[in-house]
Amino acid sequence: MVVRRLESPARAPDLDDLALRELYGYPPELTRPYVRVNFVSSVDGAITDGETVSSLATPADKALFFALRAVADAVLVGAATVRAENYGPADGDDEVQRWRAAHGLAPIPPVVVVSGSAGIEPDARLVTAARVAPVLVTAATADPGRVAALERAGVRVVRSAGPEVTSAELLAALTGLGLLRVLCEGGPTLLGQLLGDDAVDELCVTTSPLALGGRASRIAHSPTATRRPLRRGHMLADDDGTLMVQWIRDRS
Ligand SMILES: NC(=O)c1ccc[n+]([C@@H]2O[C@H](COP(=O)([O-])OP(=O)(O)OC[C@H]3O[C@@H](n4cnc5c(N)ncnc54)[C@H](OP(=O)(O)O)[C@@H]3O)[C@@H](O)[C@H]2O)c1
Repeated sequence: MVVRRLESPARAPDLDDLALRELYGYPPELTRPYVRVNFVSSVDGAITDGETVSSLATPADKALFFALRAVADAVLVGAATVRAENYGPADGDDEVQRWRAAHGLAPIPPVVVVSGSAGIEPDARLVTAARVAPVLVTAATADPGRVAALERAGVRVVRSAGPEVTSAELLAALTGLGLLRVLCEGGPTLLGQLLGDDAVDELCVTTSPLALGGRASRIAHSPTATRRPLRRGHMLADDDGTLMVQWIRDRS
């Protein structure tokens, strides 16, 4: 064991948006989806203040959030998060779109929603404001009327073989769509499943400098616990106390 005091953030160089994008580039020449997950939590582990994350997101967390979107092929999210956060499309501004195109990425990453019940509405902001079709990965048992209405509204639908969407089916859907640089933005149910199936390559966790108490969830939950050792990657900090740590899962 060697315990060291990490270098003072004040002595490290500042990172602007471009530097963050460079730092968080995905591994080159992927042949399978690389699943990066991004969450923000309070120091005491709360992931919401009430229903949403709004008061947890510091300026540095927002900068990282958008930098991670800028380098991803797709934003993957569970349906409850879409509903709770009134999710919109993941369009960046003109500069981000130009940067993406210059780096061989589609200008706008689609949002891929997992919902066994096809539980997003055709008039949800995510659908109506989309310039790139959102994708719904849903179960074979989802109501056909709901699925048809979403397809009419422009949603691309991928159906699983059974009553749930397994991690393998989700990864196969992303592979089939050519979306290998995956950024999963939660929520805890989706992350719990992905961790259980050892389908997470990287966990980016921002700790917001406050404690909340209350009944909020932690970043992952699942019926049973699974031990997944992680290696520490980048460790970033803002002067306001925000800490952003990249945790890497080395798996073959
Ligand atoms: N702090 C953060 O960084 C952060 C990030 C994300 C979310 N959140 C918070 O987390 C809360 C939501 O938590 P949650 O655990 O309920 O969210 P979730 O994982 O986004 O959504 C769970 C729902 O997604 C669908 N789903 C997920 N995996 C599925 C699968 N394998 N097969 C079929 N359906 C699947 C199901 O939707 P259907 O019921 O439609 O079938 C399920 O009810 C919100 O309050 C949100 O604000 C916080």
